[in-house]
Amino acid sequence: MEPRKLAAGNWKMNGDLAALGQIDALLAGAGDAACDVLICPPATLIHPMVARVGSADLLVGGQDCHAKDAGAHTGDISARQLRDIGASHVILGHSERRADHGETDADVAAKAGAAQAAGLIAIICVGETEDQRDQGRTLEVIAEQLAGSLPQGATAAYTVLAYEPVWAIGTGRTPTVAQIAEVHALLRDKLTARLDDGAQVTLLYGGSVKPANAAEIFAIPNVDGALVGGASLKAEDFAPIISALAAA
Ligand code: 13P
Repeated sequence: MEPRKLAAGNWKMNGDLAALGQIDALLAGAGDAACDVLICPPATLIHPMVARVGSADLLVGGQDCHAKDAGAHTGDISARQLRDIGASHVILGHSERRADHGETDADVAAKAGAAQAAGLIAIICVGETEDQRDQGRTLEVIAEQLAGSLPQGATAAYTVLAYEPVWAIGTGRTPTVAQIAEVHALLRDKLTARLDDGAQVTLLYGGSVKPANAAEIFAIPNVDGALVGGASLKAEDFAPIISALAAA
């Protein structure tokens, strides 16, 4: 069985209630069952977005969760709470959270374990900095992040991996096809070695994915979709990316 294809939008800290109109445009324009489509809006918009989507085929997710189910953790949201309001996925270990909030691989693994237990699909992010790439350490860094961030008992049904080179996020720069292929092959090898169903884990590429480069990226072996930041904010940009994935 092939991994499921996924076009995922990460709205980051962007969007207000008025931005939900993009969902209507996306539902009208996309509607292709050949791949899953997910939007991870800021926490304030998750429930209104779920309500707006109704029974249509668009998934909604969170951008982070706490490792515990409940308790004295002011400002945090648990995986169970995300599931309760209709989220299907949660992004974990995004490089912005690793940088802004000091999240470690162990933190990410604990959160991913909580997500899995709550019935949420964890989108675990890994990626090297520009310095690490320049030092020739990319594969070592990715292998270490993957080994430390994957929770015990991970399965393909509840795990998505996103390769997001830090230097490609929001910069308009993307790795070469060969560079993406090399990292995704490593991810597939490691996942297959560690999980019985590692061959079925969906692997996303993220970092300056646009309508203009989507088809080329989706043609790379072991790329099963994308985690899209800026270009997911407007339906007119995200819809052609979804179509490119559906056609790949
Ligand atoms: P951009 O698509 O804006 O480069 O962001 C990528 C990203 O960080 C998605 O999680």
